[in-house]
Amino acid sequence: MSIAHWVRDIEDFPRAGVGFKDLTPLLANAGPFAESIRLLAAPFRDQRVDCVCGIEARGFIFGAAVATALGCGFVPLRKPGKLPAAKIGIDYALEYGTDRLEMHADAVCPGTRVLIVDDVLATGGTLAAAGELVARTEAEIVGAAVVIEIAALAGRTRWLWPAPLHALIVYG
Ligand code: PRP
Repeated sequence: MSIAHWVRDIEDFPRAGVGFKDLTPLLANAGPFAESIRLLAAPFRDQRVDCVCGIEARGFIFGAAVATALGCGFVPLRKPGKLPAAKIGIDYALEYGTDRLEMHADAVCPGTRVLIVDDVLATGGTLAAAGELVARTEAEIVGAAVVIEIAALAGRTRWLWPAPLHALIVYG
């Protein structure tokens, strides 16, 4: 059974008129969850990934598991005010307002081969900001992997790095 079977559609969440792709059924089932991690990691197994950067919050769940699958470390890209040590950050636009991602300044070194992982690519603003933040460290971005891509929102067009953006399930 395809992993898409384990994604639940929730209407009017987080607000009226919005359809939400709920990944909790996938996470709750060992086989489908393991398969999603295997599929996320597969294109990058031969890419000598040094580190997975996962985006808060659901990107932590998938990113940490992908890091284990690839035998590398995990670095959290966090919402503001959560990281304790010296950090760098980037502000980015949302549909309404702005948000910010931060990472520890010493989390990756120049040349570190980084894979960025998140659960969903929608407008692409979050993943683009994550890429820009990681690029500021002079790390080498080897790709990005998401479970779900909402193609109608064209977020892929905002991924500007010459590295693959891998999506497991693409919705129109
Ligand atoms: C969701 C999702 C992605 C982002 C994608 O996160 O987990 O990180 O939105 O949207 P975009 O492509 O339009 O930027 P959210 O901001 O809801 O945070 P959360 O994971 O902490 O709930």
